[in-house]
Amino acid sequence: MPTSLFTPAFTDPAQARAFIEQFHAELPGTGDPAARVHEVLDEIERTGSYRHTPEELAFGARVAWRNSARCIGRLYWRSLVVRDLREVSSADELAEECFEHLRTATNGGRIRPVISVFAPDRPGRPAPRILNSQLVRYAGYPDGSGGWTGDPAGGQLAARAADLGWKPGEGRFDVLPLLVQERPGERPQWFELPDDTTLEVPLSHPDHAWFAELGLRWYAVPAISDQTLEIGGIRYPAAPFNGWYMGTEIGARNLADADRYDLLAEVAGRLRLDTSHDRTLWKDRALVELNRAVLHSYQEAGVTMSDHHTESERFLKHVAQERRLGRQTPADWSWIVPPVSGGVTPVFHRYYDPVDPELRPAFLAREPW
Ligand code: ARG
Repeated sequence: MPTSLFTPAFTDPAQARAFIEQFHAELPGTGDPAARVHEVLDEIERTGSYRHTPEELAFGARVAWRNSARCIGRLYWRSLVVRDLREVSSADELAEECFEHLRTATNGGRIRPVISVFAPDRPGRPAPRILNSQLVRYAGYPDGSGGWTGDPAGGQLAARAADLGWKPGEGRFDVLPLLVQERPGERPQWFELPDDTTLEVPLSHPDHAWFAELGLRWYAVPAISDQTLEIGGIRYPAAPFNGWYMGTEIGARNLADADRYDLLAEVAGRLRLDTSHDRTLWKDRALVELNRAVLHSYQEAGVTMSDHHTESERFLKHVAQERRLGRQTPADWSWIVPPVSGGVTPVFHRYYDPVDPELRPAFLAREPW
């Protein structure tokens, strides 16, 4: 095995100190950080890294959410359920715990925000990686003439999984297997998701019976699995986390984007809209009906989902609450403003504290091995 591919960095003592000080400053009753800082710096000197206490880990994960400039759903950052799975580093066990994550997060439809934190990178001992971008995602299969069956965003992983021996389906909504790589350069292992981990919602429309015939569906839990959680200089590359969906993510992006399911023309056709010219706003009208269908269907199925009006108000409440606590809320306007009806939501009409790429704890794009 070529170990030279990846040598995890040693933990930066300055990052460690800053985090421990933040932990003690923000949490009442934790007292003077001096003793713990001393202990941590000593551990880094001896071992090249250190171990978070369970409380530090939970706090760090929650603050990483609070710091996520692209997330509109941050009002509930304190409620994140943190699963401490740092002892887990084998592919089998990791897959099993990802399945358990989905069951806990799904909670029969009452979605709970959850993060599962697996083994961190240690000096000379890189942590395992989850290769999927989300724990649940649909496969995409190119049709050879530029079109796709399924989700083009799941094209690469489907091909990779097939190379490893996964038998691809031929459907538009085939749930991808979980791909886990234990060590750099090692062959990833794949695991089919058990049925009881992937609650899905068939899509129907409150006014149009034909909508159900389109055979559309989406999954209940968006669980990001390709971001590294970094806390106090320690990197946790396998730390899948989820919230609940905001309807527009599905209705205005996943099902509508030209490079995703690209369904606007089909929906417009069924609605008998005049598609002869952009000025008829057929795309806009189809988009609204698609979004109504998504919100209606999740509601009918008893699966937590918010709409962009409600989530926008919650976000501004979060910004105000943070401000009262003397904290900024860095936010990326282009991600916060919803992809439909921006101007009729309050988040459109203002700017936000600047995004600082150095802010920690944070979720970071996963670096390659
Ligand atoms: N936009 C992504 C998707 O449609 C999910 C991103 C996270 N979303 C969330 N509500 N936590 O699958």
